[in-house]
Amino acid sequence: MDLSPGEIRVLAFLKRNQNRTIKESEIKIDGMNTREISSSVSWLEAKGYLTTIRETSSTWKLGPEGVKYLEEGLPEFRAIKIMIDQGSVSMKDLSAKIGQDEMKIALAQLAKFGIRPSSGSLAAPANSAEILSKIENRQSLLVKLKDGLSDSSAISDFRGRENVIQEFKSYDRTVKLTEMGLKLQLENAQEDLLGEVTSEMLLSRSWQGKDFRKYDLNAPVEKTYTTYMHPLTSLIQKIRKIFLEMGFTEMPGHYIEYTGWNMDALFIPQDHPAREMQDTFYLKSDAKPEFEHPEILKSVARAHEKGVKSYRGWGYKFNMEEAHRLVLRTHTTVSTIRSLYENPEPPVAVFSVERVFRHESVDWKHLAELHQVEGAVYAKDANLSTLKGLMRHFYHELGFDDLDFIPSYYPYTEPSMDVVATFNGKEIELGGSGIFRPEVTIPAGLKYPVMAWGLGLERLAMFLYDLKDIRDIYNSDIEWLRHFQAKM
Ligand code: PHE
Repeated sequence: MDLSPGEIRVLAFLKRNQNRTIKESEIKIDGMNTREISSSVSWLEAKGYLTTIRETSSTWKLGPEGVKYLEEGLPEFRAIKIMIDQGSVSMKDLSAKIGQDEMKIALAQLAKFGIRPSSGSLAAPANSAEILSKIENRQSLLVKLKDGLSDSSAISDFRGRENVIQEFKSYDRTVKLTEMGLKLQLENAQEDLLGEVTSEMLLSRSWQGKDFRKYDLNAPVEKTYTTYMHPLTSLIQKIRKIFLEMGFTEMPGHYIEYTGWNMDALFIPQDHPAREMQDTFYLKSDAKPEFEHPEILKSVARAHEKGVKSYRGWGYKFNMEEAHRLVLRTHTTVSTIRSLYENPEPPVAVFSVERVFRHESVDWKHLAELHQVEGAVYAKDANLSTLKGLMRHFYHELGFDDLDFIPSYYPYTEPSMDVVATFNGKEIELGGSGIFRPEVTIPAGLKYPVMAWGLGLERLAMFLYDLKDIRDIYNSDIEWLRHFQAKM
């Protein structure tokens, strides 16, 4: 197998140190940096010329307390000196001299040498000179630790005192030639083969008369993975493209909404169960952003209290306070009603693929944060069959052709239908749709029907990607991501 100039030089170096097992960090070659040496070692290993064993080694240095004790003295060192000087020292006195916290440390350490307080003071035992010299050793060890020590037995006195000493790990490899590596004959000339031509070489013509290394087309190449879009991102892009190509406009939105927009403007009654704390994330906030278009609330309130035209409304007293509570939007239908209110010139065709938040317990088919494919068409002739046709077209583009529309209920649409697909023999509920009720359109100043839908994105992705658990979409399992990409 062909060898690169770097590999040849590393091999030559190892052969000069024949039969010796050597650390990678000890390989020193002029003109090669540690990274280049390391990469050559790896290649030589892959090609079978040498074996390596990874090693971790530790160096200990002073931690923040160690730095302090180096200057002030270790608490046990200060304490034992006071004790020996005075013959004995009371706890009170000791604490006043070295401080309460340091005294605790000193006592714990001295206890290891059998020095323990009795009746409130420490008395110097007979062998205190011997103990002092051991503690002096510790103190002088701090000086050595300043520059780093790699002998783990030397620091055993400080084990468990994490702020006194700190461990720094480093990695190295021991390198050993294999039988094949030992046998390989290197000619001197091989070390000088040119592997690349640099601009300096061209300018100075130093390449002339030299031999070039052969280009090895069979060289093993490490598998590389280029960056790709996340599967969910590429699905979102695809969906955006489908709507944009049909002439829809993407609508903006906000994660934080007033209930007035998220619910009231959609004729969701103020005592609706979905408004409960256990279903919706309410914001604890004193900062109240401006309620855009507060005038709409008056007509919304009227619709809730008395209804519109011949519809009777909910018949309760509308609570303005309630409409001013802030929530994390629970659906993107809030963006639809806002967009139509702000841009009521028909025809309007809007969509978004955006995130919503629900206070759900997360399981294999529920997420608390999910995306909805939302949209609406506001036009003179908007009707249910056009809505169905639109849904069929949209899902057809994504590969779902077996659709059913099932009568359903939403407070803001009449009729309402749920879209259900059958895919590989399984039924999936994709989301809701319908025609906005007059209680929604009239307060918003809309004259024509609005057909609207809100569809789950992750459910769909789960089926498209054949996942058993919806949470896997967000697990970022690198194998899955690569595999998925290979399928595309
Ligand atoms: N907003 C509904 C949901 O979150 C879906 C929906 C949108 C239903 C528009 C009807 C019309 O499930």
